[in-house]
Amino acid sequence: MNKLLIGGGTRVSGRVRVSGSKNATLPIMAACLLARKECILHQVPDLDDVKVMEEVLVSLGAKVKRENGTLVINPENINSYELPEYLSRRMRASNLVMGALLGRFGKARVAYPGGCAIGQRPMDIHLKGFREMGYRIDECYGYIEGQAENLVDCEIMLDFPSVGATENLMMAAAVSKGNTVIRNAAREPEIVDMQNFLNRMGARIRGAGLDVIRIEGVSELNGVEHEVIPDRIEAGTFMVLAAASKGDVVIENVVAEHLVPVTAKMRETGAEVIHYNGGTLRVLGKRKLGPVDIKTMPYPGFPTDMQPQMMALLSAVEGTSVIVETIFENRFMHVNELRRMGADIKVEGRVAIIKGKNRLRGATVEATDLRAGAALVIAAVGCEEETIINNAFHIDRGYEKIEEKLGALGVKAVRIAS
Ligand code: EPZ
Repeated sequence: MNKLLIGGGTRVSGRVRVSGSKNATLPIMAACLLARKECILHQVPDLDDVKVMEEVLVSLGAKVKRENGTLVINPENINSYELPEYLSRRMRASNLVMGALLGRFGKARVAYPGGCAIGQRPMDIHLKGFREMGYRIDECYGYIEGQAENLVDCEIMLDFPSVGATENLMMAAAVSKGNTVIRNAAREPEIVDMQNFLNRMGARIRGAGLDVIRIEGVSELNGVEHEVIPDRIEAGTFMVLAAASKGDVVIENVVAEHLVPVTAKMRETGAEVIHYNGGTLRVLGKRKLGPVDIKTMPYPGFPTDMQPQMMALLSAVEGTSVIVETIFENRFMHVNELRRMGADIKVEGRVAIIKGKNRLRGATVEATDLRAGAALVIAAVGCEEETIINNAFHIDRGYEKIEEKLGALGVKAVRIAS
């Protein structure tokens, strides 16, 4: 069922509740490998990527049970420090177990994660950090092998504020013998959520959310309960959907602070964004929207994971907008698909110039990665005609119950047999 049919001509309106954050859940699931006892995670989204991470943990010997939005992970019988290639290739984020395995066993053997549509996504920053901590890291036959040799107090300077590298190094350092300082650390809210989770387990970490994180290694960590933060990218996606369809949507379960760059950019287009107390916001796309320029940056800049969605919106907003994608070298795969819907977009390297029209036209298109798939849904809703999105499984990797949520907003969204 990899085709998703989206009806057009809808003014999206209604209420939608955002799920737990995929990008907080995946690293925190990996961090459960560090616990001596069972961990209970709440508000875990039911996503294909989460299911892959469950398989990863089970392949290492953990027991994983899902009860609705709650995951119970028991790491007591973990008996392997090796992540096989068939799992490592299925999802880039499976490489997040490396730091936890090094922390727990002092060694790890992880197959190189596959790249993906949006870029090579190497691990050089992760490996340089592990080496600076005193791990011997060898790369052979497509595997990365790590072995504790002489763990020392260290200061690590990340060449780029990599989210995954920051998380991997935090996990290895949390139970290391030494004290670790990570400079030029990623500042995303998911890093703060991981710090909170690890500290609840007994770790001693300070500074997440800023560019310097200080970790005092402890000997062991306990099992805990934790509720992951709401998904700021899912929230942003529905904000753009509301504006693109000139709709009126109330979005529940958001953290306004995590959405500051998205809220600011949406208001710059002319959309009305109202934040209420208690984690709810409302987006009204009534007024005629205008073009804006976007440059994706590490948090708290405009998030790369919202770039495709904004491109879909701006393709149907009269005027010229410019998007610069600074994070991934190949994150314009959605451009060709938007062009099939009539978009006028010129790409020069990491720069896309969008000459917005008053509307796009429905077509048969293909999702190339999860955010590109979300962008096609947004473009489709703003058309009069129906659109069919092939390879819709990409969307399921990052958006829980997408048909249900779109249906609640009045959008016709039907899975059709391939
Ligand atoms: C996380 O990926 C997110 N995934 C991505 O979300 C997100 O786009 C990305 O951070 C940036 O915000 C999860 O959290 C599971 P990075 P991650 O390491 O950690 C380069 C989505 O749509 N780099 O910050 O892999 C890398 O190639 C996904 O939900 C190196 O060169 O991202 C990229 O160009 C997509 N060497 C840039 O840094 C390294 O060792 C940012 O990567 C590591 C990264």
